[in-house]
Amino acid sequence: KDIHSLIIAIDGHSSCGKSTVAKDLARLLKIAYIDTGAMYRAVTLYALRKNLIVNGKIDEDGLKSSLDDIDIRFRTNLNKGTNDTWLNGENVEAEIRNLEVSNNVSPISALGFVRKRLVELQQLMGEKGGVVLDGRDIGTVVFPNADLKIFMTAAPEIRAQRRFDEMKAKGQNPSFEEVLKNVEERDLMDSTRKESPLRQAEDAVVLDNSQLSPQEQLDWILDQLTEMGVDI
Ligand code: DC
Repeated sequence: KDIHSLIIAIDGHSSCGKSTVAKDLARLLKIAYIDTGAMYRAVTLYALRKNLIVNGKIDEDGLKSSLDDIDIRFRTNLNKGTNDTWLNGENVEAEIRNLEVSNNVSPISALGFVRKRLVELQQLMGEKGGVVLDGRDIGTVVFPNADLKIFMTAAPEIRAQRRFDEMKAKGQNPSFEEVLKNVEERDLMDSTRKESPLRQAEDAVVLDNSQLSPQEQLDWILDQLTEMGVDI
């Protein structure tokens, strides 16, 4: 099997390192990487900037009629190894990771009309194959026929610590308790929401990476692909 025709789906809880392993995999195999969480974050950033979210309250009609004005793209820089998210011609990769966006993205991603639009876009971006997507509903909704489905998880404290370190490294100054609370709240919202809740696809393989380095996770996925008879 040729890797450039395959679709790899990685789903799982927030901050469990899905994007790190997806990015590593994409770089190594020279396939595309689609960070679907970044797309929900970009819509959230757009809504915040346009005052379509005020004190956590969403102007749903306003957002619905703005959907056509939201252009989301990814630009991969193979040299730098980055995969940046662009919103309406602006690189918003850093901004979509801040705490304000993180605190507002779950309710935005629970809106059926937002999901419908972004799922369509993800299907268009990925249908030709040679792609790895990460998110919550890739193996269940976006590409139920994906060639390899991985469900990633790790202990909440470990995930909070990782996000905490990440934010520190970016010069932000969060409290650990705040970050842990954010991780747990999002777990709950993501897995109990009505629209496409986070759940493991029946044919997904589970990767608990609490005790695994990025390299070990990458090797684990490469083993899965080799077992499937993929040329890598
Ligand atoms: O993976 P992340 O933390 O960047 O995701 C941001 C939010 O978007 C998170 O609350 C879950 C939601 N999300 C989703 O509902 N479906 C996806 N396919 C990806 C993310």
